[in-house]
Amino acid sequence: MGEDGRREVEEAWYYISTSTAELREITKMERIGPHSHIQGLGLDDRLEPRSNSQGMVGQGKARKAAGMVLKMVQEGKIAGRAILFAGPPSTGKTAIALGMAQTLGQDVPFTIIAASEVFSLSMSKTEALTQALRRSIGVRIKEETEVIEGEVVEIQIDRSLTGATKTGKLTIKTTDMETVYDLGTKMIDSLSKEKVLAGDVIAIDKTSGKVTKLGRSFARSRDYDAMGADTRFVQCPEGEVQKRKEVVHTVSLHEIDVINSRTQGFLALFAGDTGEIKPELRNQIDTKVAEWREEGKAEIIPGVLFIDEVHMLDIECFSFLNRALEKELAPLVIMATNRGMSRVRGTKYTSPHGLPEDLLDRILIVSTKEYSPSELEQIVLIRAQEEDAQLGEDTLQTLASVARESNLRYALNLISTANMISKRRKSEKIEVADVKRAYEYFLDLTRSQEWLKGQAGKMIFEEGQQQSDDRMDQS
Ligand SMILES: Nc1ncnc2c1ncn2[C@@H]1O[C@H](COP(=O)(O)OP(=O)(O)O)[C@@H](O)[C@H]1O
Ligand SMILES: [Mg+2]
Repeated sequence: MGEDGRREVEEAWYYISTSTAELREITKMERIGPHSHIQGLGLDDRLEPRSNSQGMVGQGKARKAAGMVLKMVQEGKIAGRAILFAGPPSTGKTAIALGMAQTLGQDVPFTIIAASEVFSLSMSKTEALTQALRRSIGVRIKEETEVIEGEVVEIQIDRSLTGATKTGKLTIKTTDMETVYDLGTKMIDSLSKEKVLAGDVIAIDKTSGKVTKLGRSFARSRDYDAMGADTRFVQCPEGEVQKRKEVVHTVSLHEIDVINSRTQGFLALFAGDTGEIKPELRNQIDTKVAEWREEGKAEIIPGVLFIDEVHMLDIECFSFLNRALEKELAPLVIMATNRGMSRVRGTKYTSPHGLPEDLLDRILIVSTKEYSPSELEQIVLIRAQEEDAQLGEDTLQTLASVARESNLRYALNLISTANMISKRRKSEKIEVADVKRAYEYFLDLTRSQEWLKGQAGKMIFEEGQQQSDDRMDQS
């Protein structure tokens, strides 16, 4: 890449830095998911697990281990390593991983994939894994940028006849000077989106075009009678209108890849449909990033890649991961599985947790255990609060015993359905009868399997499906 190529990559950061902010906004709007009650690992300063904190109950050893691992990540000591959470279904493996994600700082990347996502039609397995790994490595970039800051004197907008294009002028001043800028359509849109008026004090990032309203100028405080109570008044800035400022962005290697891959463009980040990225491009980007590090412009932040249901990966994926962990730029890889001894996919060999031995060798294993009745009760209660459901007398015990006899996840699902049933009969509380009806409408796995047996010959795809893989560990 020549001088020009380099500028291209640099421009990419600015686009990315705004688009990642928007992406975060989008992911924040999540509905009440099965783990939405988890806000962290619930550990104290000395990494000791509190019995019921941040939505977490029990599983103390695994939570503490998770906390220790995070500490090492934060101190930059553990890149290139791997952890495996192993334990029966519904023992909080995914929940603990999400608790870890919440504990890490805003700019430490944490990527979550289910192993089966790797098998997609649009890209090879190794490309899917490479993308996941590169999503989990952050690059913190320090940068000088030009900022225009001052009080708006006047905004003048001229529309073309069709209204499709707009041009305009922005007059902006400080206590010392006044400057007029020409405006294009994009900038006019940003200004009107922020509802910028004459008398507002604003800042414009010249490279990204981002407009920030800092407040209203004191000088204009008597212009209007009716002004919102929350209007913030600020002094008109002093000095130059245009200033240099240092800013810091964090983007992932994958985001830099996508933005610079000509065929995809940065919109692909939103669609999630990035296709394959050429290895040459990745090499160029890695070289560039290494240069930036040497120049002190960039810092690598190794993040975390969480691969859930990792036994679904096959031997090719495992050897690829093993090699990837040895590279210089590797994140911490956390895996979870509910398999005991089982076949490594793509081979005829059986191995602990369905992972090949060379990978097991470098892994720290953390086990999760079944919950006690009182822990199950507490988790059910936390979920009921999360879903704004009031539990009638004995309902808590009923749900907890379903959790014990069937499984926890099923019992938690019953809260939402029973809640709906109780609301339909205009009750404020979920009573045992509501849980019973939900229990009858929706089968748990054991009853579903019994029902399937009774349906012999009537359903399609029943033969050999389950034997073809080491699945159905509960059967
Ligand atoms: N220790 C815990 N504290 C609070 N909620 C938990 C805990 N463990 C599991 N849960 C909740 O129980 C459900 C099942 O747990 P999950 O993490 O999906 O189990 P696994 O991944 O081990 O199969 C999820 O809704 C999860 O948020
Ligand atoms: Mg899970």
